[in-house]
This record gives sequence, C-alpha cells and structure tokens, in this order.
Amino acid sequence: MRERAKDLLDWYDVHARVMPWRTPPADKRAGTRPDPYAVWLSEVMLQQTTVAAVKDYFTRFTTRWPTVADLAAAEDGDVMAEWAGLGYYARARNLLKCARAVVADHGGQFPADHAALLALPGIGPYTAAAISSIAFDLPHAVLDGNVERVMARIYDEHTPLPVAKPILMAHAEALTPAERPGDYAQAVMDLGATICTPKSPACGICPWRDPCLACQRGTAAELPKKTPK
Ligand code: ADE
Repeated sequence: MRERAKDLLDWYDVHARVMPWRTPPADKRAGTRPDPYAVWLSEVMLQQTTVAAVKDYFTRFTTRWPTVADLAAAEDGDVMAEWAGLGYYARARNLLKCARAVVADHGGQFPADHAALLALPGIGPYTAAAISSIAFDLPHAVLDGNVERVMARIYDEHTPLPVAKPILMAHAEALTPAERPGDYAQAVMDLGATICTPKSPACGICPWRDPCLACQRGTAAELPKKTPK
C-alpha cells in the first residue's frame, strides 16, 4: 500500500495548511529543512491544544527565544508567564527541562535519532516520531487522534480504541514511505483535520477515496469505534 503515499503527497503539495512552524513551499523547493526546535516546540504546544490556539503562542515564543539555547537560558518564571493560557503546565516545565538537556547533552542541537529524542525529558513516543519524521525526514509513523481515525477508516478497522491502537500503528508504519516521510506525516494529519473529519467526512474529494475500505463499505462515519466509558 506504500505507493498510496504518493497520492497523498500530491494532495498535500496543493492543500497543505499554512502554519508558522512549517517550511513555506518555495523554501522547501530550495531545500530548506524545518528547524527541529520549531518542530519540537510546536508539537509540545499542540498536545491537547488546537492549531488555531497554538499559532500566536508559537510566534511569541520563537520571537522571544529564537533557538533552543535561548530558551534553555530563560528564567523559569518568564517561560511559565508566556505559557499562561495554554494549560497543562507540566508541559511548560518539561519544555524547559528538555531545552536544558539539549544544551547540556547535545551541544544545543536536537539529536537526529529517535531513541536519543525519546530519552529527552517530556518527549514521548508521539513527539519523538513527529520530530524524527518532520524535522529529520526519518520514516517514523506518527499516530495522533487524526491519524488514528484515518487509519481506522482506510482499513475499516472496527476494533474499539484503545485496544485498536497497536493495530492502527502497524497500519500507519506500513503506509509510511521512505521518500518524504516528514511531509507524509503532516499530510495524514492534515487529511484527518480537513477531509477525514470525525463527522461528515468529505469522502468525495479525498485523495485516498479509492483505497479506503470504509468509504467503499459506507462505514466511515462510525469509525474509529471507542470502548464505551
Ligand atoms: N497536529 C500536531 N502536529 C501537527 C502538524 N505538524 N501538522 C498538522 N497538525 C498537527
């Protein structure tokens, strides 16, 4: 199914959402890679917070602290004050711990290695995979809520969450291409956010309509299944 990635990347090249931490298309064509600091900061902020809410916080943080070394040298109180309103304050405390570990243990550069990223404070499997793929173009699958939904539908997977997670992860890994895995990871997230939405998915304009089993069987709206609370 890996050749499917190309259909999604073609769609992403036209429809990618504009976000301040993403490389603009013209810079991408010129070979500019995303800044790992920007990718890390945005991914931490996006945990439990919407893209719309994160944009201004991200811009304020990177204006005030343009590099991870600048952030590592910041006063704790200043960082907590800039974080105010984003909630989940453990994230902000871990943010500082992580920035200081990157400076102390990695010379101020995020390591281009999934295991080394995972060893940093506050970086779990999702964030390590996101930085590996988006910043370093390594073929690691990211599985957030959007990607879970897309995978459940493409494969018409009816096992309820959270039991389905490892199954959906295996699907996500199998689909991840060797070429442009970073763009691909963001393309699946964008697909889930804009077309393969929880309610009324826009299957008619979906670049993955042909291979999607849920679309063929008319089950998209009921997937992913969740274990009743
Ligand atoms: N949600 C979390 N990270 C994202 C990203 N890089 N692009 C789009 N949506 C996201």
